[in-house]
Amino acid sequence: MAAQSDSWGTRVGLILAMAGNAVGLGNFLRFPVQAINNGGGAFIIPYIVCFLLMGIPLLWIEWSMGRFGGKNGNHSTPFILDTMDPKRRFWKYFGVFGIFTNVAVAAYYCYIESWTMSYVMHSIKGTFRDLSQLETAQFFVKYVDIQQSTTGIPYEAIIFYILCLLLNTWILSRGLKGVERVARIGMPLLILFGIFLAVRGVTLGTSGANPEHPDASAIDGLNFLWTPQYDSLTNPKVWLAAAGQIFFTLSLGMGTVHCYSSYVKYKDDIALNAVSAGFMNEFVEVVLGSSIVIPIAAGFLGIDWVKENAGFGMAFQTMPYLFQNWGPAIAMIAGVMWFGLLFFAGITSSLAMGTPWMGFFQDEFKFTRKQAAWSFGAITLIMGLPTVLFYNEGVFDEYDYWAGTVSLVIFALVESILFAWIFGMKRGWHEINRGGDINIPHFFKFIIKYITPLLLLAVFIGSVFTPESNDWNAAFQSLFSGNGWPLDNTSLIKMISNAGYKQQLAAATDETVISGLKSRIFYTNAARILLISFFTGISILVYIAYKKRANLKIQKL
Ligand code: PHE
Repeated sequence: MAAQSDSWGTRVGLILAMAGNAVGLGNFLRFPVQAINNGGGAFIIPYIVCFLLMGIPLLWIEWSMGRFGGKNGNHSTPFILDTMDPKRRFWKYFGVFGIFTNVAVAAYYCYIESWTMSYVMHSIKGTFRDLSQLETAQFFVKYVDIQQSTTGIPYEAIIFYILCLLLNTWILSRGLKGVERVARIGMPLLILFGIFLAVRGVTLGTSGANPEHPDASAIDGLNFLWTPQYDSLTNPKVWLAAAGQIFFTLSLGMGTVHCYSSYVKYKDDIALNAVSAGFMNEFVEVVLGSSIVIPIAAGFLGIDWVKENAGFGMAFQTMPYLFQNWGPAIAMIAGVMWFGLLFFAGITSSLAMGTPWMGFFQDEFKFTRKQAAWSFGAITLIMGLPTVLFYNEGVFDEYDYWAGTVSLVIFALVESILFAWIFGMKRGWHEINRGGDINIPHFFKFIIKYITPLLLLAVFIGSVFTPESNDWNAAFQSLFSGNGWPLDNTSLIKMISNAGYKQQLAAATDETVISGLKSRIFYTNAARILLISFFTGISILVYIAYKKRANLKIQKL
């Protein structure tokens, strides 16, 4: 095992790095879309409940697991899990998720991050100045369509993707100090840019800012988000979406929190640090994340437009066009701030995704920091190029589903059981509170032991058996009347068999549609094979590392 060579500089640096890890594209791109698609005010209550009953407890679990692992010289989840239950050997293979997910998510996440870099450049260049709404949207469509990319530089998407990976790799090769420095610069700037844009968004008001849409009102956007609707509380679909967002936004179930925390000194506080970073993320998500895209888009185009077009395309396809309403100078500033904000949000998260891989190779295979960083850059490029080259074939979405959604829930479920039930709540509670600067209310012991794992189990089952049209009532009725459980095409079971595409294929008559669907199925399966091979590869490395450790032990005896 490598001696612990790296560590955090200061407490503020640690908290900013952890907050930077959590604050990401998810806060600005994913949260508003989830909120809109799940009924606005209907989404907020389940979201807050999930934050308190699942988010905060899991943060404590992951921080304490990480610090516990770091004490023994482990910085990635395979051997962190292993040391928590030395009797059973299989945990470390669950720990593979904590490396796999990061690389697979980094692969497509860095692609979005690279768009933000390019869009900062285009905002400065004034590319969007005279474009219509449609043209601005088409600019993006062409950008990601590698074959006919004519947005300026040929193959611009690939060039920026590689630049983005190089930048990440270079910072990672400088170790935690590099990560900390980026967080110290990036987080305050992000908040500053966010406040500027949020003020513009919230003060757009009902001025009829856009003559073409005289009824458009930013206030409608805010009302839609913030008028709570209690009837949604019984809708599992909304709960699943809220839980999924909490995972993604807090970077839970990924292994990055464990890794960052494994560099915290064993006697240092985590109880307060975890909550501070978590709340900072929530401030950015709930306050800033909801005050930019939605009110600005609603202010110029109307809330109905927003509801119909909610998707992360809004950020790239619509915002640059809307900024033009403010005249060229402010449009440029707003563009630089918006995409700059997204860039900082993205990079402080993608850096985090690099660290578990690095920790693993440094601990187990004696890589130097530079080797570890460059090998991460290389593997991310290999895994990521398919998402860039075949973006339109759905490879990106496939990664997002399996790595960015399903894996997180599986890993979080497993770790919460290991922590509370195998490692044991008594020791677990001790670990969380060791060196703590706050007294965590005692009832959290109960929540961590029972509520969190049960909620996770519910989320998991809910995604495996999602009923048709997300209608749980109808599904139960159908079940009790003996007609079985109608599964939706978005349920995990149906996803595996590509049921959605197959259904469309069966209904299609047009030749181009048919061949399009066939190629999507092909690329979807290819993406899965790639992901599975990658997972298997890491599992083999974990096995080799385990054998090496066992030999070392024998030699010592
Ligand atoms: N939390 C980040 C976001 O909101 C995403 C992320 C996931 C970062 C996992 C690190 C690890 O965008």
